[in-house]
Amino acid sequence: MPDSDLEDTEALYIGLMSGTSMDGIDAVLVDFAQPSPKLLGHHYRPWPESVQHTLRQLSLPGDNEIEQMGLADIAVANHFAESVDQLLRQTGIPAHRIQAIGSHGQTIRHRPQATSPFTLQIGDPNSLAEKTGITVVGDFRRRDMAAGGEGAPLATGFHAAYLASDSEFRVILNLGGIANITLLPTDATSKVIGFDTGPANTLMDSWINHSQQRSFDAQGDWAASGEEQEEILRCLLAEDYFKRPPPKSTGPELFNLDWLAQRLPTYDSYRPEDIQASLCALSSRTIVQAINRYAPDCDRVICCGGGTMNLTLMDQLQQGLNATVETTARYGIAPDQIEAMAFAWLAKQTLHKQPGNLPSVTGARHAVILGAIYQA
Ligand SMILES: Nc1ncnc2c1ncn2[C@@H]1O[C@H](COP(=O)(O)OP(=O)(O)O)[C@@H](O)[C@H]1O
Ligand SMILES: [Mg+2]
Repeated sequence: MPDSDLEDTEALYIGLMSGTSMDGIDAVLVDFAQPSPKLLGHHYRPWPESVQHTLRQLSLPGDNEIEQMGLADIAVANHFAESVDQLLRQTGIPAHRIQAIGSHGQTIRHRPQATSPFTLQIGDPNSLAEKTGITVVGDFRRRDMAAGGEGAPLATGFHAAYLASDSEFRVILNLGGIANITLLPTDATSKVIGFDTGPANTLMDSWINHSQQRSFDAQGDWAASGEEQEEILRCLLAEDYFKRPPPKSTGPELFNLDWLAQRLPTYDSYRPEDIQASLCALSSRTIVQAINRYAPDCDRVICCGGGTMNLTLMDQLQQGLNATVETTARYGIAPDQIEAMAFAWLAKQTLHKQPGNLPSVTGARHAVILGAIYQA
């Protein structure tokens, strides 16, 4: 589509995000016509248990992967299409008014450290374009990786565009399955950096699931009921990933229960709630360490993602950081919607032939137009 076709029209975009927590799909409808993006609607669709189970299986090496992935690719796309349908119904906006859907896809493998680095998101964009009748931009991460980057984090460009301030040094902290930070110094000429600090919720989710068959620790109450154990923390903090300098990104491929068992072979000898408390402390300490090391002078840490509901984690962050800790809600963006909004923005960038990655963040050799376009 030539650029001129995009002018004088509305700037309505849909963002679709399902992160490493694999909890569900966040779909947002955003109007980018004004200087600040305006959120017109949000729809959350939890993954059915069976799909979630398949996705978790696909995240680790296993049997018959190609067949399983092929089936899941279409199943996930169908759920994405349902989410879009619900979102449009809810907002009363017809499909033909939407410029594009920015679809992150579901990551089932992210291996930036492999001999031939690769990353893989599923949720067939062809099916999504066909079912919704809307142009889809998908497969954002691989182009950054092809340009030598980590392929992540990608929401940083959106943070820099809309949440930076020239009067205070802000850090955006996303507490998803994994925690990632975006450092936004006041001086626009200094480079924005951002990286995954390590786990936010993924280990706590896995542990409570393993121990109590619950999918997450509501409000962090179970973690609060235990006592963090320094011995556990010492074993877990020895992980090399925490010491590596950025750019870096990670996922549940590394931080999972096998990792816990390898790092802490004696885990059976602790009270389960003490392990949960220690996993919560692991998340908060590694986040605090990363911020104190790379942004010691920051004024404000603005949090988003489902982990903002974990009050135990939020308390520990507040205690460990020398900055004001708050959520994006204060800036008119619900904490659980910002990632999806970033992918709506990335779709807009791509349609306008603008780059979406920040090389200072991902480590790519240059800024690139991300993703592939699947026409309506
Ligand atoms: N009420 C809650 N209390 C504590 N944690 C919560 C709550 N609601 C959601 N979460 C956490 O947030 C996670 C989902 O966060 P999200 O930002 O969607 O992550 P991702 O982008 O990785 O999918 C859940 O897996 C859970 O750990
Ligand atoms: Mg999620």
